[in-house]
Amino acid sequence: MTHFLDIHKTSPDDLRGIIDQAAAMKSARAGRPKGMADDEQPLAGRMVALIFEKPSTRTRVSFDVGVRQMGGETMVLSGKDMQLGHGETIADTARVMSRYVDLIMIRTFDETVLTEMAEYSDVPVINGLTDRTHPCQIMADILTYEEHRGPIRGKKVVWTGDGNNVCASFLHAAGQFGFDLTFTGPSQLDPEEEFVGLARRAGSTITIERDPAKAVAGADLIVADTWVSMHDSQSSKERRHNMLRPYQVNDALMAHAKPDALFMHCLPAHREEEVTSAVMDGPQSVIFDEAENRLHAQKAVMRWCLGV
Ligand code: CP
Ligand code: NVA
Repeated sequence: MTHFLDIHKTSPDDLRGIIDQAAAMKSARAGRPKGMADDEQPLAGRMVALIFEKPSTRTRVSFDVGVRQMGGETMVLSGKDMQLGHGETIADTARVMSRYVDLIMIRTFDETVLTEMAEYSDVPVINGLTDRTHPCQIMADILTYEEHRGPIRGKKVVWTGDGNNVCASFLHAAGQFGFDLTFTGPSQLDPEEEFVGLARRAGSTITIERDPAKAVAGADLIVADTWVSMHDSQSSKERRHNMLRPYQVNDALMAHAKPDALFMHCLPAHREEEVTSAVMDGPQSVIFDEAENRLHAQKAVMRWCLGV
């Protein structure tokens, strides 16, 4: 069963194949209305379940549109409206869903929901974000970086702020795609040591630098994300903001990076918190290309999962 659970669980060759296919599929349908089908219909006759236990705009819409462009059908399900949210086990849910659909994408809280779903599912399962990782996002980010600047191998990526789920998938990607990553943020919010170690063992240089100006020196790509993720308690908001304020991405910080450094954010962003509007809307920002590329990258991920 070919699940897409995490970037470090997918081989570098397969990841490269997915990115290349995403780029090819994107260019093949350039300029078409969004609702127009692709010439190739690899998902014809396939039913895809999109399960959300957390809010979503990009993941939900991009998966739904992507499946339809490839000729498939979708059903979008809210975890709380399923028996899953009312005591049915994940294993039983996975076994049942596998009898109805060809592919499952799930966004959930605890990573074990995803891994258990994959263990008991007879159809491929895709990680649409957990508290711990967000691999589909980073596939879109790699595609976006390479569209603008060429191969990401050997480049310096700087993650600013909270060492969260999106940061974790960037660390996984550093190891698999061969780029270096510097984390700059408060020590309380460092990324998981396990993931830092994994990237280092894969040959990437992973640096922890508390001074954001020093961290971004020589950066090819600067990345920010929300200071309070969906799985973080709202009561931690003030404490987090106080810790993270020095790590805001603004024009002064961007000026320390390479002049052609790009800025990325998975969105949704909190303007004037983790990043200023001047940077978000400025010439180095590629945030809306990134959002668009969720569509193209995930279409290639789904094809890879289904082998079509
Ligand atoms: N970036 C991202 O996953 O956005 P959504 O939460 O809107 O899906
Ligand atoms: N770190 C954020 C990403 C949202 C796409 C969260 O988990 O809420």
